[in-house]
Amino acid sequence: MTTLSIQVNGAQHDVDIEPRTLLVDLLRRDLGLTGTHVGCDTSQCGACTVLLDGEAVKSCTMLAVQAHGREVTTVEGLARDGKLHPLQEAFIDCHGLQCGFCTPGMLMSASCLLARNPSPSEDEIAQALEGNLCRCTGYVNIIKSVQEAASKMASAAEKQP
Ligand code: FES
Ligand code: FES
Repeated sequence: MTTLSIQVNGAQHDVDIEPRTLLVDLLRRDLGLTGTHVGCDTSQCGACTVLLDGEAVKSCTMLAVQAHGREVTTVEGLARDGKLHPLQEAFIDCHGLQCGFCTPGMLMSASCLLARNPSPSEDEIAQALEGNLCRCTGYVNIIKSVQEAASKMASAAEKQP
């Protein structure tokens, strides 16, 4: 066993784990954060995407110990003070999901994109989401959702003093 120190969604955790524990298993099994999904376990689908120090990573292909001393954000960490993140609202408003299985990963990849590029083109959104597979939506409404969130976030930023 090894002791892992990790910040997840702003909360500090010190957990004893087997060194071979995957990050996704730490999140889902040890911390109960089941919003991060496992679709393939082989780095193909992106359902397990989380942010590691702000960068989108596939948590099924990382050891939890690689996140020691670092900060992880999962889909549970997107909402603030009981209010959904603009991306979450836009996915609802623009029908960016059907079964919702891929959605946590889509949201995390999209939030990483918008943090780096607040006004991405359609191509840039498609590129940022190319590691995330969706079996239901055909992607059109997912791209619309990201565009809608980007525009709402830009207007909110303009209104800030
Ligand atoms: S579960 Fe990680 S990429 Fe599919
Ligand atoms: S909404 Fe079903 S897999 Fe994407």
